[in-house]
Amino acid sequence: MTNSPIIAAARPDAEWWRTAVIYQIYPRSFADSNGDGIGDLAGVTQKLDSLANLGIDAIWFSPFFESPQKDAGYDISDYRKIDPIFGTNEDLDVLLAKAKSLGIRIIVDIVPNHTSDQHAWFKAAMAAPEGSAERTYYHFLDGKGENGELPPNNWQSIFGGPAWTRTTNPDGAPGQWYLHLFDATQPDLNWDNPAVAEEFDEILRFWLRKGVAGFRVDVAHGMVKRAGLPDATNYDHNMRELPISNLGREEAEKAVPYWGQPGVHDAIRRFRRVLDEFDDRAFCAEASMSPLPRLAMWVRPDEYHQAFNFDYMTCDYEPAALKKIISDSIIEYAKVGASSTWVLSNHDGIRHATRLGIAKENTPRPGDGIHPSDPAPDEALGLLRARAATAFMLGLPGSSYLYQGEELGLPEAWQLDVKYRQDPTIARTNGERIGRDSCRVPLPWVAGETASNGFNTTGESWLPQPENYRTFSRNLQEGVPGSTLELYKRLLKERKAFSMGSGEFRWAEHFEDKNTLAYVNNGVLVIFNFGPDAVALPAGEVLVTTQHDLTAENELQHDQVVWIKL
Ligand code: NOJ
Ligand code: CA
Repeated sequence: MTNSPIIAAARPDAEWWRTAVIYQIYPRSFADSNGDGIGDLAGVTQKLDSLANLGIDAIWFSPFFESPQKDAGYDISDYRKIDPIFGTNEDLDVLLAKAKSLGIRIIVDIVPNHTSDQHAWFKAAMAAPEGSAERTYYHFLDGKGENGELPPNNWQSIFGGPAWTRTTNPDGAPGQWYLHLFDATQPDLNWDNPAVAEEFDEILRFWLRKGVAGFRVDVAHGMVKRAGLPDATNYDHNMRELPISNLGREEAEKAVPYWGQPGVHDAIRRFRRVLDEFDDRAFCAEASMSPLPRLAMWVRPDEYHQAFNFDYMTCDYEPAALKKIISDSIIEYAKVGASSTWVLSNHDGIRHATRLGIAKENTPRPGDGIHPSDPAPDEALGLLRARAATAFMLGLPGSSYLYQGEELGLPEAWQLDVKYRQDPTIARTNGERIGRDSCRVPLPWVAGETASNGFNTTGESWLPQPENYRTFSRNLQEGVPGSTLELYKRLLKERKAFSMGSGEFRWAEHFEDKNTLAYVNNGVLVIFNFGPDAVALPAGEVLVTTQHDLTAENELQHDQVVWIKL
């Protein structure tokens, strides 16, 4: 019926991670069992049945390790211990056992680029003199200028301000500086020190022995820095990082001496060798690299299994751009034997139900939230588009990542008052950047049950839910035809039934025009109408639509997706 070339061949024997739908749990906001307002592992265990019911294959947990929580757990002080706010190591054993019984794999988040400043290594380094072995676990350098009063180089923290903080010596005199690409409480590790790699081998083994299915690797592109830590050259006049996707590889490595350095691949291969001591485990890299051929270097056969597709997540809502990224992703990853991944939301960006309702010119750069004073997003349009974008994504071959709450159509809590917000970015930019808290607000489970809509029994909530979260509560959607939750369930069910995660994929170009995209995956035709006009549909059994019904004329309305069995 269509002569478009096959872009992905069917792969019936695919390993689990090539096709998995992986649900991200942000533990402090999922479910709170003891009522202190912070989600915990026992809360997750209580709710696991509802995730099995949704039809996911695996869960990725954002970090739950011991941490001062200066960056919501991405500042780890003990990599082998669950933070008491989330429970105990035994709570995780219980959770793992229950997940196993439900056929759900558990992936944990490993943070190898930096530790907390409360990690034993960093405390020892601070207590030790300049030039000591203890300081070689991190990047401690003398400052520039006559009295060392200037940072060692011009690198900027991703959260704003310089990436260096000066220490104070025991006698009160100013001392050396240490590097932190994120908050000052997150010192970067020195991966040239073999003791660092050895310790991480053991940390990986520790969790693998417990039965985790793999790791999401935080800042996987940043672990190894360019020798000599030279100045970066990719800042604008406000010292903001500029994209480097237009540069050749070597140019990019020079321009940003802390991202994507060749040495990082040795560290990755070492990680991989450890993981391969165990059966059937996988890595997913958070490597913010662009363009896709560069990112594909992270998923070569002896490196990570897969990497997040941030180009896809941040793609404009526009057919030609989306089509190019999908084709490029499938093709570039396949060249190195990897599968593609897809993602629309996570804990660092604006929830896609809101993001897709923001005019392009008002969309903040990735990683930034919208201010309460910004123009209000069109939330109805955002939700319509989000449902369509998700349905389009879940039919693609490869693995998809979902972010907790998106199955409820949850919007961004963008009105959240700054007084509640905790993202270190806010303080580091004097409020210019509002940070990421508004995608991290606790989930509503039971409408009106408590002030937190059943997040717990006390109504406490580390970030307050906005008024409209009540209407998105899970109990109002469970079993309700047309709800976003039922839409997700249906999509996941049909995706499995037709093995679309490992299917034969091609574009269905004769259903496309400038406002539509269409593909066929294992005999299912998926059409996306970006609007504005309705589109006539071919014959076939309608498996799912993202709005209640098609029109009587069998037409697909604007911002709608349909799956048709051919
Ligand atoms: C990426 C994580 O997703 C983000 O939440 C965190 O702030 C940074 N890495 C630093 O660990
Ligand atoms: Ca709790």
